Amino acid sequence: MYMNKIELIKQPVEKELEEFRTLFESSLTSTDPLLGEVLSYVKKRSGKMMRPILVMLMAKLFGTINDSTFHAALSLELLHTASLIHDDVVDESDKRRGQSSVNAIYNNKVSVLVGDYMLATSLKHAAHTGKVELVELVACLGQELSEGEILQLGNTGKEDFAENTYFDIIRKKTAALFKASAQSGAVSVGASSEEAMKAALFGEMLGIAFQIKDDIFDYFESPELGKPTGNDMLEGKLTLPALYVLNKLHDDASLKELALRIRALHASKEEIAQFVETVKKEGGIEYATRKMYEFREKALALLPASADEAIRTSLTAYIDYVIERNK
Ligand code: IPE
Ligand code: IPE
Ligand code: MG
Ligand code: MG
Repeated sequence: MYMNKIELIKQPVEKELEEFRTLFESSLTSTDPLLGEVLSYVKKRSGKMMRPILVMLMAKLFGTINDSTFHAALSLELLHTASLIHDDVVDESDKRRGQSSVNAIYNNKVSVLVGDYMLATSLKHAAHTGKVELVELVACLGQELSEGEILQLGNTGKEDFAENTYFDIIRKKTAALFKASAQSGAVSVGASSEEAMKAALFGEMLGIAFQIKDDIFDYFESPELGKPTGNDMLEGKLTLPALYVLNKLHDDASLKELALRIRALHASKEEIAQFVETVKKEGGIEYATRKMYEFREKALALLPASADEAIRTSLTAYIDYVIERNK
């Protein structure tokens, strides 16, 4: 029977993911009327659950899924959801998961407070794993996510088109969460430190590809995506496709001048549209796509030779989905 990619990815951990979903929903409740209302609004549209899927697959690759695995997955998906609520405030974004963002429906104050509540709930689940190593992992992750966002913010006005800066930012703001997911899955089932390190690197490579794909989305209209496209440059963010073209055409003074004005938030919508066309015409999307495939190869090379075939198939499908997805 035909199976779509997501079903194929989930197959080895399908039952566990169903149980996870129930636990996740019950973790988002409150007797406070306003908090309860916002939490149920957030629950109405769940995400793709990419991070819990990764936790479960990695746990199964190295052992037997247990209570710690569930609490680790809950902790990370809660941290992710909280960071999206805060991200939409920071990015002044009015849509998320196909519905109005929390800041658009309520306001920034509500978003900050509810995000904080979810962050605390995330830490509670980290503690419920009973493993100090996992608590530390989540705490360090929280620091990295914030560092990534702050690095990105500090970079907006600058004349730095280096790819390294871009990769530093996305490693922290996005890949760190995938890294922590893969690593905590392994740690939760008692994998050796070498196995956990490989799992972590696998997650990191995957996460870098994930953010490159997210940045490519910004160059196209995409009704399925459920969040605004074309937002990055409006906020002064230049991502990999643009950086490639800027470095390739480094003698083009007027292109550089326009790029700097985009970063300084002084470009008009028409100028941004023209910049987007140049980036596309000069091969920026193809370059970023090639980079994703490089990270795919790096990730797959990290899977142990002895890996169970079903899990390997699923993890390979996972990376392919990250690269080929349309939402
Ligand atoms: C969105 O992540 C944040 C980025 C890292 C770009 P997802 O696309 O996994 O978000 P949901 O959870 O499925 O909405
Ligand atoms: C990446 O930030 C996601 C987080 C670290 C929260 P973006 O601002 O690029 O993500 P989207 O595009 O809004 O999902
Ligand atoms: Mg952001
Ligand atoms: Mg955003």
